[in-house]
Amino acid sequence: MNIFIGGAWPYANGSLHLGHIASLLPGDILARYFRAKRENVLYVSGSDCNGTPITIRAKQEGVSPKEIADRYHQEFSDNFKRLGFSFDCYTRTDTEHHHVTVQEIFHDLMNNGDIYKKEMEQTYCETCTQFLPDRYVEGICPNCGQQARGDQCDYCSKILDPLDLLEKKCKLCGSKPTVKRTEHFYFSLQKYEAQLRSLVNDAKKKQSWRENAIKLTERYINEGLIDRAVSRDLPVGISVPVKGYEEKKIYVWIEAVSGYYSASKKWALETGHDDSRFWTKESISYYVHGKDNIPFHTIIWPAIILGIHSHALPDHIVSNEYLTLEKKKISTSRNWAVWVPDILECYHPDSIRYFLTINAPENRDTDFSWREFILSHNAELLGGYGNLVNRTLKFITKYYDNQIPYSTLDSEIHAKIKTSYEKVGQLIETSQFKRGLEEIFELVRFTNKYFDEQKPWKQFAENKSRCDHTIFNCTVIIINLAQLLAPFLPFSSKEVNEMFNRKESNWDFVDYLPSQIVKVKPLFERIDIKQIEEELEKLSRQIQI
Ligand code: MF3
Ligand code: ZN
Repeated sequence: MNIFIGGAWPYANGSLHLGHIASLLPGDILARYFRAKRENVLYVSGSDCNGTPITIRAKQEGVSPKEIADRYHQEFSDNFKRLGFSFDCYTRTDTEHHHVTVQEIFHDLMNNGDIYKKEMEQTYCETCTQFLPDRYVEGICPNCGQQARGDQCDYCSKILDPLDLLEKKCKLCGSKPTVKRTEHFYFSLQKYEAQLRSLVNDAKKKQSWRENAIKLTERYINEGLIDRAVSRDLPVGISVPVKGYEEKKIYVWIEAVSGYYSASKKWALETGHDDSRFWTKESISYYVHGKDNIPFHTIIWPAIILGIHSHALPDHIVSNEYLTLEKKKISTSRNWAVWVPDILECYHPDSIRYFLTINAPENRDTDFSWREFILSHNAELLGGYGNLVNRTLKFITKYYDNQIPYSTLDSEIHAKIKTSYEKVGQLIETSQFKRGLEEIFELVRFTNKYFDEQKPWKQFAENKSRCDHTIFNCTVIIINLAQLLAPFLPFSSKEVNEMFNRKESNWDFVDYLPSQIVKVKPLFERIDIKQIEEELEKLSRQIQI
């Protein structure tokens, strides 16, 4: 099978925080799982370098947008790597390759009659002497009365035109915008309404999209799809590839989602592989992002895919709800966030991955609290899994001089492990990562209990073959646990594999044991609970009111 996984492209205008990771992590779990199953996987993403968030940040700092994009692209690449994200290609939207690919797509859509030119009115700032599309305008949402940005209201999710906002303000200078006429290119979404409707109906039947994606997409389609402007009068971005209109730029969302396609081409060029097998009807795709990205992946991107005559419509939409921090909404402007570069300084990447999966905002918002994070590390990772591995391997060192005793596998244990592969695999494939991880930790608890009940330290003196049996069974479980956990906790799985001199993890039951263990060391360290207070203090020092 060919499995395409597209992770959302973070804007390169500021550091990543845990909210980003909570919504993107499922992509890496999927990629590692399907690779372990020996499927063809292509997992791509990149930094979104062309959007208004970057130009706004650059203006505020008085530097070029390129400088901002370079800085954060570097940081993102480094952070993702340290968190174990195993992208086949992590690129950026300001590469020549991306520009050219997107312009080709734009051309194809024009040739297909999907994009047409139209004159329209747009908000304009006389002070900044520029048009103010999308997020360049802020004001009050005409639908719900909350503070909103020009492109979308975060509160009620309504898609907006900056003209609709009440009490409009220029985001750059704060003055009241005027309205000017300009010409723009429009994408005929209406044309695809019926096909998009059947796409979401299908996803609903199969339950292959998250509930929030189905609901929101149905709502937009029921409200009636209107043609959207796909060009902007902006200084930065990808030029519209039409003579006389090169000054205009392609709307960032059209262009960013096309990154899935351009990145797959880039990967093909760089590795000598063929990417077309990921763009057929038979290939299976997963799109992984936060809920604010839903319409771009369930309406705009599918419409483009249909427009370029591909049949690779999104199969799975993995759209997470939000992560809150200490019960409050994460806010980058108020610095109410746990920044990825900071947390990576002091904590194990698997602790972060464990917590953000077991506590993932899959169907509702969930909370990150320092207390829960540190306690879950100490109790589950260190006290459960780490302890099981450590006590078993230490026992082998002490009582068996590092030679793994050979015995028979309990049929009950055999069945349990087999079932775990099936169940967890099924849960991962249907985007239920939290339940998948819970299932594995059930097996961890079962095994610790088994160890306690068998008391191998007594068995060794009283009935050595019973002891061999216990340790053999625990060891088989541990090797399989490392495989089952590899998509979730790749760093510690790798360490377990190394202690058994094993190279890689597959998604198959292992009953073949090496003869000995090497270089036994603990998987995790206890985190001092004094850290809870320290981290909370740090948060309250950094917040801006
Ligand atoms: N940059 C966007 C955001 O952070 C996400 C773009 S995802 C893409 O919300 F796939 F469309 F690129
Ligand atoms: Zn202005």
